[in-house]
Amino acid sequence: MSIQGKTILYTGAAGGLGLPATLHFLRAGATVLAVDHDAAKLSALTDAAAGIDAGRLVTLAADLSDLDGFRSLLSGQAAALGGLDVVINNAAIYPAKPFDDYSIEEHQAVQRVNVDAGIVAVQVALPGMRGRGWGRIINIASITFYGGWANLSPYVASKGALVGLTRAWAREFGPHGITVNAISPGAFPTDAEKIHPDPEGYTRFVLDHQAVKRRGHPGDIAEALAFLASDAAGFISGQVLNVDGGWVMH
Ligand SMILES: NC(=O)c1ccc[n+]([C@@H]2O[C@H](COP(=O)([O-])OP(=O)(O)OC[C@H]3O[C@@H](n4cnc5c(N)ncnc54)[C@H](O)[C@@H]3O)[C@@H](O)[C@H]2O)c1
Repeated sequence: MSIQGKTILYTGAAGGLGLPATLHFLRAGATVLAVDHDAAKLSALTDAAAGIDAGRLVTLAADLSDLDGFRSLLSGQAAALGGLDVVINNAAIYPAKPFDDYSIEEHQAVQRVNVDAGIVAVQVALPGMRGRGWGRIINIASITFYGGWANLSPYVASKGALVGLTRAWAREFGPHGITVNAISPGAFPTDAEKIHPDPEGYTRFVLDHQAVKRRGHPGDIAEALAFLASDAAGFISGQVLNVDGGWVMH
């Protein structure tokens, strides 16, 4: 199972799950194009990678909600890197409030970052993947897609869209040697969790629901991503892999 020599686009790479996964890929010998809009967090990623990246970390400060700007910046970087072998659509925003309080513009803003930017990323990467007859696309979904969470309707809708795109793209790109899968994280203690008002109560709730009685850590996601990005997973496509300690079982 190797991702050595692969060029990986990782959106939201400076975040709670993205930073450790990026370091994991660099240690495994991949080149990572790390995209995020948070310059301070990107700089922390660069610091964390010092010593292991051997020049294989490329950071790109880009706001994914500016789809045209993102396309232009990404196209330039992808060309400079000789193409993208792996696309990981990971960046997300997750506002939380009752459905009635969302304007349609707020709903659309979530879809733009969580879904539409991923479409742009795939549009940029696809011609090269097709040309090489090899590619991996991994969309990051969420356990919330399976229900049980209120007040996250634009976010849950965006994750549902990513699951739909995973299946549609898997069918369409498979003949070109490109697999498309989704990873659905359970509950990981990152910034995304800070939307919950009672952290200790939330941890009790999480452990009650998981079959595995420990909190997840970002390495759990990094290992699953590395597997799906590798040759070893070449016969797996159109699937959603729940990495959630045995919470959701379907
Ligand atoms: N942490 C969890 O428990 C959990 C659970 C289920 C799903 N997920 C999913 O995992 C993925 C990563 O989550 P995380 O916990 O690392 O969250 P995070 O908030 O720590 O990371 C998301 C990253 O995306 C970046 N980002 C947001 N908007 C952007 C924009 N407009 N342009 C560029 N970058 C932007 C942020 O700066 C951040 O670094 C997300 O798709 C999230 O929905 C996380």
